[in-house]
Parts: sequence; C-alpha cells; structure tokens
Amino acid sequence: MGKNIVWHPSAVSKEEREQLNKHKSFVLWFTGLSGSGKSTIANAVDRKLFELGKRSYLLDGDNIRHGLNKDLGFGDKDRRENIRRIGEVAKLFTDSGQIVLTSFISPFAEDRNHIRSLFPAGEFYEIYLDCPLEVCEKRDPKGLYKKARNGDIKNFTGIDSPYERPEHPELEINSAHISPEKAAVTIINYLKKRELI
Ligand code: ADX
Repeated sequence: MGKNIVWHPSAVSKEEREQLNKHKSFVLWFTGLSGSGKSTIANAVDRKLFELGKRSYLLDGDNIRHGLNKDLGFGDKDRRENIRRIGEVAKLFTDSGQIVLTSFISPFAEDRNHIRSLFPAGEFYEIYLDCPLEVCEKRDPKGLYKKARNGDIKNFTGIDSPYERPEHPELEINSAHISPEKAAVTIINYLKKRELI
C-alpha cells in the first residue's frame, strides 16, 4: 500500500445503514467441497432472505471467477488471493449494511480464519457443508471430478489438492443427507434464533 493513502471516513455509518434496512449486516461464509451444495443452498437462503424483506447478496465462486477474479487459477497462491479478495468484498458489503453470502470452496483454514479476523464478533458465520468426497464425486454436477480423475484438470480439491475442514464452524450441515431446502430452512432458523434477522 502506498504510504500517501489516507483512510477517508464515511458520512453514513454502518449502524445507520443497518437501521435503514431494519436488520443487522453480517457474512454467511459457506465452505465445502465442489458439489457439496454451497451454491444451491446459499441461493436458497438468499431467496428466503429476499422474501423476508432483507437486503442480501450472494458472492458465488464460479461467477466471481468470470469477472473480478478471472485472472486467478487454482494453485495454492491463487486460491489464497481469491479468498483474500472475497473477504475484502464481503467486508465492503457488510459496511453497506447488507447480509452477504459467499460460496467458495475456500479450502485453507488459515485463509478462512484470516477473513474471520476482519470482522467484529457476531458478524462472521462459517457454514461448513459436510459432504463426503464420494458423494460429491458421484453428483459431479459439472463433470469436473471425472476430468480431474482423468488428469485433465490439475489441483482439483479433494483429488490432488487438499481441503481442510473447519474445526469450529458456527454451523455444520450434513449436506449429503438433507435436501437443499431443508438446509436453507435450518440456516434461516439459526439466524432467527440469534435475532440476526
Ligand atoms: S477456491 O478453492 O478458490 O475457493 P472457488 O470456490 O473459487 O475455489 O471455485 C471452485 C469452482 O471452480 C468449483 O466449484 C469448480 O466448478 C471450479 N473448478 C475448476 N477447477 C477447479 C479445481 N482445480 N479445483 C476446484 N474447483 C475447480
């Protein structure tokens, strides 16, 4: 960062924006293997929040990699940068008073913990979609596991690139055994119980 860059305070505070929206702003950080249901479940939660009149927005790995992060690949360094940028974008979204949902494999615990450290207590919720590799591989919605097994894709998470499961996620959902709709309801109930929405 250049030493001549000075933070400019904003005229409207996050608290004022939250008051206008009539709800808190926070992050729901979905993590899990490819095919574990992150995008499907996060979209279902986003839809429910919308229908409840909450201002939310989903940042989705596959979509963000078409634009903002299209310069990044799947080596460890690029994945780190991918997650770092999304953490910063998520921070901006919460500052704007919104609920932000993120759907990225985010395989490294250190990176997820770093993102967590950017937020005050009660603003970051890690949601681990626990789904065995065999199930994700069987689903193979984009045919990518097959390609990875054939050696056509390198560094594929779960095959030849690691996934470090979260040790203390706020929520853990066994997405091999429940429907995306049920998972979404579980998450909405969790948010209501904590009076976040
Ligand atoms: S992350 O590891 O950097 O968090 P991200 O969530 O953005 O990954 O992107 C993962 C998506 O990219 C997967 O759902 C899959 O569709 C696609 N993809 C392409 N190549 C790979 C790879 N080598 N490993 C994992 N996912 C890949």
